[in-house]
Amino acid sequence: MSGPNKTYDPVEVSALDPIALAQAVAEALAAFAAADSLDSLKAARLAHQGDSSALSQANREIGALPPTAKAEAGKRVGMARGQVAKALATRQSELEVERDARLLVEEAVDVTAPAARRPVGARHPLELISERIGDIFVAMGWEIAEGPELESEWFNFDALNLGADHPARQMQDTFFVDPPDAGLVLRTHTSPVQVRSMLERDLPLYIVCPGKVFRTDELDATHSAVFHQVEGLAVAEGLTMAHLRGTLDHFVEALFGAGLETRLRPSYFPFTEPSAELDFRCFVCGGSDDHCRTCGGTGWIEWGGCGMVNRHVLTACGIDPDRYTGFAFGMGIERALMLRHGVKDMREMVEGDVRFSTQFGMEI
Ligand code: DAH
Repeated sequence: MSGPNKTYDPVEVSALDPIALAQAVAEALAAFAAADSLDSLKAARLAHQGDSSALSQANREIGALPPTAKAEAGKRVGMARGQVAKALATRQSELEVERDARLLVEEAVDVTAPAARRPVGARHPLELISERIGDIFVAMGWEIAEGPELESEWFNFDALNLGADHPARQMQDTFFVDPPDAGLVLRTHTSPVQVRSMLERDLPLYIVCPGKVFRTDELDATHSAVFHQVEGLAVAEGLTMAHLRGTLDHFVEALFGAGLETRLRPSYFPFTEPSAELDFRCFVCGGSDDHCRTCGGTGWIEWGGCGMVNRHVLTACGIDPDRYTGFAFGMGIERALMLRHGVKDMREMVEGDVRFSTQFGMEI
């Protein structure tokens, strides 16, 4: 800044020279007009309006002028700065309008364009039907029970009255687990959960247990080494075969259709006495088609075993067989699914191809 300037002549202070000011204004306006983006306009603003610009310098010179000269010089510099500020604001809003228009085009989203779809998975139908079966019993006040898939021989066989020489214990059926003297097997049925439930829970007892079981079968259209069963067990005072029958009637109707008749055929299981095979009326032909593919023309569909819990089993579980009676049943879940949905080949259920599962809908 110049020193005190008693004999003032604004023309002598070069920064305040009208020609210099006019030129600074002209340069600023040209730079703003030339700016083709908000960034370059910002650079031009710093150069022509910033602290070190000619106009800011001129503004600071005013302070050193004698009071008499301040007014005129201030007016001149003020007008110059006003002109520059106005041009800047105009260019600024022009460039903003341009930018907004460009963004609208660049960032346009076509909401009607087809989206890249990710295929949704599906729950396995065995899981769905297992849950459905559980729901049928929970609705009657029964509880869901579970047990380990790696089971001790005692639970899987002995406690169920399957003696050491029973054929089901032979190597061809059972996966024995190393070391041999550990007495561990992959459970061959869900019946050990009966024993566990009787030992763990209070009476009266109403439990259902859908679960995975294992047998040394080769995989083919009707066999798999891993499959599923559902086990049911009721123990209370005064239970009879009539209660078993009524329960199975309801189960079959809830799963396969109202009005389906059931029938019990005498059979043998070591853990029930008396024992029966459960059949139910063919829900496809109702017994009227000798060539029905679902029931093979017999009119009946075989679906599992059942009976009154053998008193030896009750005793093994610490339950007084003179006071309490129980009934039990066990059936295959794969078979239920094959029947219900016309699945012809067991392997389809094992392979885990999601295209198989998606046919059963998207139940959650
Ligand atoms: N556990 C038998 C099996 O795997 C099925 C069975 C039969 C279960 C009779 C029962 C029953 O609870 O009472 O073949």
